[in-house]
Amino acid sequence: MALQDFLDQLDDLGTAAESAFGEAADTEALEAARVTFLGAKKGRLKSIQQQMGSIEREDKPTAGKAFNATKGRIEAAFEAAQQRSDNTDSDSTASNQFDASLPGDTFRCGTVHPITQTIEELKDIMGRLGFSIVDGPEIEDDWHNFVALNIPDDHPARDPLENFYLATADAISGDKDPVGLLLRSQTSTVQIRVMEKTAPPIRIISLGRVYRPDTADATHYPMFHQIEGLMIDTDVSMADLKSVLRLFATSYLGDDVTIRFRPSFFPFTEPSVEADYYWNGQWVEFGGAGMVDPNVLKAVGYDPEEVTGFAFGLGVERLCMRRHGVTDIREFYKNDVRFLAQF
Ligand code: FA5
Repeated sequence: MALQDFLDQLDDLGTAAESAFGEAADTEALEAARVTFLGAKKGRLKSIQQQMGSIEREDKPTAGKAFNATKGRIEAAFEAAQQRSDNTDSDSTASNQFDASLPGDTFRCGTVHPITQTIEELKDIMGRLGFSIVDGPEIEDDWHNFVALNIPDDHPARDPLENFYLATADAISGDKDPVGLLLRSQTSTVQIRVMEKTAPPIRIISLGRVYRPDTADATHYPMFHQIEGLMIDTDVSMADLKSVLRLFATSYLGDDVTIRFRPSFFPFTEPSVEADYYWNGQWVEFGGAGMVDPNVLKAVGYDPEEVTGFAFGLGVERLCMRRHGVTDIREFYKNDVRFLAQF
């Protein structure tokens, strides 16, 4: 075979292979083109190679070089086509696999913390009983946390071991008594703030965090929440207090809740009671309450001969625990989503 004819055939084969691979629309067409041009037994490249035997001896090196170049050209065209086909396949595979009838990915949404949920519900219940909501600061002074609440200087409730006092700049420099500001130990501080600014009648609640250096156990935590209630008017009685507390407890915990009132003592109420509910075979205290002490009424400028009132302060965590069967208050503050997501 003449060298030139061989070279022309190689050139034609390369061009034909490139266009066949370029036009192959899917993997089947590509495979067919591969077999046609690169097939090991009957491929067109193979049959041209077999013709090399008839080329003149002195032309063989040129023919061999040209053959290898064409073989490389055809293989490169095949690989490029194969690459294209792989990309298209993966696209079409992804779209083939999409099934609009299957449920979508599930996203884990956060939930509102159970104590926040409880606070919202308690606000709602007390709102229906005609109580409006007020806020008070968590950092308090001696007057609002103790003095105005009839807690004298030597009262054990003021003990540094019972409170989180804050060291102010004055105290650090030694210019002032360090016992000035503290993280409030009870929401009763808000009673004072409201009465100082408002003339009777008053019917409010306040909910928020309070802080005590209590050792954490199943029913105590150093930071917890209280709901404080205050009602002042011309003829508020202990019977009103008991009715409100009973209504409040049954609204939140259900009609089957058994509650009791025990005589107690708070410097800011007289008489005072402790309110308990029965749960899991035992009585659990959920709050303190009483008739506002005349000394407190005087401290805010009210006349105890003209107005009377009741106040109560309940532990929000304890109420939430009873409602949801939580046996350890510490669960609320472990930040374990497996626990929190249940509410
Ligand atoms: C008071 O804090 C009074 N200020 C309540 C009050 C208000 C009485 C108005 C009279 C008039 P006491 O210290 O008992 O009271 O706390 C009230 C409730 O807070 C308790 O019954 C309990 O439910 C909850 N409580 C107290 N300490 C903790 C604690 N460390 N962890 C969780 N809850 C607590």
